[in-house]
Amino acid sequence: MPSIRLLPDTLISQIAAGEVVERPASVLKELLENSLDAGAVEIGVSLTQGGIKQLKVTDNGAGIDADDLFLAFARHATSKIASLDDLEQVRSLGFRGEALASIASVARVALTTRTARAAHAWSLIAEGGAQGAAQPAAHPAGTSVEVNDLYFNTPARRKFLRTEATEFGHCEDVYKRIALSRPDVAFSLKHNGRVISHLPAGDAARRIAAVAGEEFAGAARALDENSSGLRLSGFAGSPAFSRSSRDAQFVFVNGRFVRDKLFAHALRQAYQDLLHGDRHAAYVLFLELDPLGVDVNVHPAKTEVRFRDARAIHQFVFHAVSKAVSGSAAQTSAVAVQPVPAAGAMNFRRMQYQASLGVEQPVASYAAMFSMPPGPAGAMAGGGARTAFEPIAAAALKQAETDAPLGYAMAQLHGIYILAENKQGLVLVDMHAAHERILYEKLKGAIEVQGMSMQKLLIPVTFNAGRLEVATVEEHPGVLQRLGFDMAPLSPTALAVRAVPSMLAHADIAGLAHALLQEVREFGGSRVLTEHQHELLSTMACHGAVRAHRPLTVAEMNALLREMEVTERSGQCNHGRPTWYQMSLADLDKLFLRGR
Ligand SMILES: Nc1ncnc2c1ncn2[C@@H]1O[C@H](COP(=O)(O)OP(=O)(O)OP(=O)(O)O)[C@@H](O)[C@H]1O
Ligand SMILES: [Mg+2]
Repeated sequence: MPSIRLLPDTLISQIAAGEVVERPASVLKELLENSLDAGAVEIGVSLTQGGIKQLKVTDNGAGIDADDLFLAFARHATSKIASLDDLEQVRSLGFRGEALASIASVARVALTTRTARAAHAWSLIAEGGAQGAAQPAAHPAGTSVEVNDLYFNTPARRKFLRTEATEFGHCEDVYKRIALSRPDVAFSLKHNGRVISHLPAGDAARRIAAVAGEEFAGAARALDENSSGLRLSGFAGSPAFSRSSRDAQFVFVNGRFVRDKLFAHALRQAYQDLLHGDRHAAYVLFLELDPLGVDVNVHPAKTEVRFRDARAIHQFVFHAVSKAVSGSAAQTSAVAVQPVPAAGAMNFRRMQYQASLGVEQPVASYAAMFSMPPGPAGAMAGGGARTAFEPIAAAALKQAETDAPLGYAMAQLHGIYILAENKQGLVLVDMHAAHERILYEKLKGAIEVQGMSMQKLLIPVTFNAGRLEVATVEEHPGVLQRLGFDMAPLSPTALAVRAVPSMLAHADIAGLAHALLQEVREFGGSRVLTEHQHELLSTMACHGAVRAHRPLTVAEMNALLREMEVTERSGQCNHGRPTWYQMSLADLDKLFLRGR
């Protein structure tokens, strides 16, 4: 084995850069944080080719003193902390004294800076770790940092960069996060010379509307809670404004964007009973606490934190957000359960939810109705161009269906529930949840057994898409094909869907495509189909399933009941909630105090 030796400084920086400078977006994050730490109130970002060719940030902050300039690119050189005490109560975004050194080790960097007192600006160039001498330059008070040709000297890393559109998409995400964190600072963003965003300084509500969309701002509930040194403020999206992915979840701890498991858990709990299982809440929340209570020195990119009193934070966040969003629970749940009289009243919690059905006998007769062989595999063969539920000659079959485990459908309640009569009494079915499970099982069967049967759309569905969505289509054609989709970019911001899985031909195709692309992108990688197939199919099922408030005919409702009877695990939706309840005649009698 070769002998142990000290590594050269540049190589040390390049190794560190592997952690800090993952892609152009990470460079942008570091530069923006430096500008905010310098007290800038106006920050301009300009990118060329997704930030790979050039990435420039200009601020009007404090600037760097000429005497300190030679240290700006030095490793472990920072103006932000000086002692362990400082480290334990960091108030600035940066503190490691590593970002500029790391960036300069893998790119050509030019830094121009001027303090308010200086007669003129100074400029300094650093390239692959080698630094030039400072030169006088022209620049207003503040700092500009220009990063050119990222990874010019580490081609192996450069190969890991994705398309320009993907890298720009990630930069845009960083820009949005930082802009959300500081509404009092004006930001602007240019890409390839084109102005993409301009955000004047203002209050939090205006900034959130500009970044997260008016729709979110309109539906979100403002909150501002204080308790024993903790403050949680911001906006929690109403359950009605839920999303198919986690892309609208922003949490800032002392002004720093973080992805925190504890926080995420508290929020999931706060929204638990208000959202459909596969929907995600939208929120922009700011937690402020004594810096001593949180360790920010956990992760090289500083996106994780550790709370000293995790349990207290969890409780506080959960309660603050529950309080803010619970007001909307009644509005969003269309069916309010009426309180029943106490004496002899039927206890709704006691109602038996039936996990298994005696399906053997009816399977054959209903399978015949759908003209397909019995069993879940057969049930899916009917994909083709069928409507959501095949109508059947309802009246003639009423008697047979009342004998069926889930009975005969009589009515639809508030566009959400199906009421059916069976031998035991009354059956209540959550039609969306039930249909979702049926589709999910069929999709699973299809992809595992004979491959997804695709249906070409007569007229391709076209829609506006984010850059990252377009990039996802370009990067994962095989995955989408296996899932039964034929999608192609029309332009850098538009997609066309030409074919979809036959079973989902009636879904809202654009909504389905958005949700799926976001998931494929989130899960990423070549193993997305082996490791996340079930999540993807579940998302597809949710989008393909009949929506609440869609009126169903009696025949359609009966067809759904029959499909439930032949579908495995149809007693629970994909997220574990029950899909149907049985109320026996005895339960009903009790409710009306009959026979006492
Ligand atoms: N835009 C800027 N305006 C003023 N000073 C800056 C700016 N950017 C960097 N500096 C100075 O250069 C120093 C080094 O910056 P660098 O980002 O490498 O480290 P840091 O911000 O201190 O810590 P971290 O590595 O955690 O980001 C900073 O401490 C700061 O004094
Ligand atoms: Mg920094």
